[in-house]
Amino acid sequence: MDFTLKVAVFLTLAFISSILVQPVSGVRNSQLSRRKNRGTYGNEDMVTNLPGQPAVDFRHYVAYVTVDEKNGRTLFYWFYEATTRPDEKTLVLWLNGGPGCSSVGYGATQEIGPFLVDIEGNGIKFNNYSWNKEANMLFLESPIRVGFSYTNTSTDYDNLGDAFTANDAYTFLHKWLLKFPSYRTRTFYIAGESHAGKYVPELAELIIDKNSDPSLYIDLKGILLGNPETSSAEDWRGLVDYAWSHTVVPRILGGYDPCLDSYAKAFYNRPDVQESLHVSNGHQLRNWSICNHTMFENWSESDSKKICSSNIQKAYCSWS
Ligand SMILES: *[C@@H]1O[C@H](CO)[C@@H](O)[C@H](O)[C@H]1NC(C)=O
Ligand SMILES: *[C@@H]1O[C@H](CO)[C@@H](O)[C@H](O)[C@H]1NC(C)=O
Ligand SMILES: *[C@@H]1O[C@H](CO)[C@@H](O)[C@H](O)[C@H]1NC(C)=O
Ligand SMILES: *[C@@H]1O[C@H](CO)[C@@H](O)[C@H](O)[C@H]1NC(C)=O
Ligand SMILES: *[C@@H]1O[C@H](CO)[C@@H](O)[C@H](O)[C@H]1NC(C)=O
Repeated sequence: MDFTLKVAVFLTLAFISSILVQPVSGVRNSQLSRRKNRGTYGNEDMVTNLPGQPAVDFRHYVAYVTVDEKNGRTLFYWFYEATTRPDEKTLVLWLNGGPGCSSVGYGATQEIGPFLVDIEGNGIKFNNYSWNKEANMLFLESPIRVGFSYTNTSTDYDNLGDAFTANDAYTFLHKWLLKFPSYRTRTFYIAGESHAGKYVPELAELIIDKNSDPSLYIDLKGILLGNPETSSAEDWRGLVDYAWSHTVVPRILGGYDPCLDSYAKAFYNRPDVQESLHVSNGHQLRNWSICNHTMFENWSESDSKKICSSNIQKAYCSWS
């Protein structure tokens, strides 16, 4: 068993063991009708007409959350409620790495989300192994220039780096929680893979620091990492996400399709899909790509040693 596979198994097991304490629901339909009447939040963000979507009994939401009004800097999220009893389940933020790779394109659409791309640009299928069976799953395209996320101030792109990414993700989280107040005090985990081996602990550290102000408190319980990049590994940038999604995950789930990246690209650039995801009016389209490799060029990397010296990361750095 190679290292990446071991980590994948570790990640899966860690995640499952952290959530298995929650009861399993046997009353799906009555749950859903109760939820239908609740209708208190984020309804304008709800996805109601995603082309090719299989029928499901959970809700999902997409939108931009502006993290800097002045500069017009905005991040795109996709949130899937848990399939059963979302009110009682934990909230998990998922981040892919790169830097420059999309959490929607990899995490949500090829790995652990409920809808996987299958036929070239034409459809999606239900993922029976989706993590939203056990948790409420929030996928974020981070930072700007990844997937649908962008800024209207081009000089923002000069600042791209680990610290910038963590700050914007933190702002995003607070603004998202204003949209979804029932998750405000929910048990929270951050999970990710490859370069998110940096994003995740950095964001965790920021949360812990800011938690000293009770009005900003987020109930962060843990972090989960698969195949994490924890030091400057220039040679591996970008390739790590690629290797992960093309070898490790298919070996676990069975079946391997080398064209998934291009299926995702075709699907997310469809006018009707972009319209259903609230990123376009169906005429002026956004140019979605699964990874932007050029943005690594001027990436400002955080110092791993510094990350490992803080309290939150001591445990993490000791095994990674
Ligand atoms: C960016 O600029 C466009 C065009 O002016 C505008 O429609 C859009 O709302 C702006 N985005 C943000 C996040 O401010
Ligand atoms: C989905 O998983 C359940 C067990 O969790 C299994 O009973 C069912 O057969 C699976 N469905 C498909 C289509 O694989
Ligand atoms: C979209 O981005 C790709 C790079 O991924 C580029 O080759 C292409 O020219 C862009 N298309 C438009 C319409 O901007
Ligand atoms: C990728 O990033 C580069 C440099 O930051 C930028 O010039 C280019 O337009 C981006 N490509 C896409 C498809 O967003
Ligand atoms: C990186 O920075 C240099 C110097 O500021 C600039 O010329 C170059 O265009 C930048 N590259 C990208 C991809 O933004």
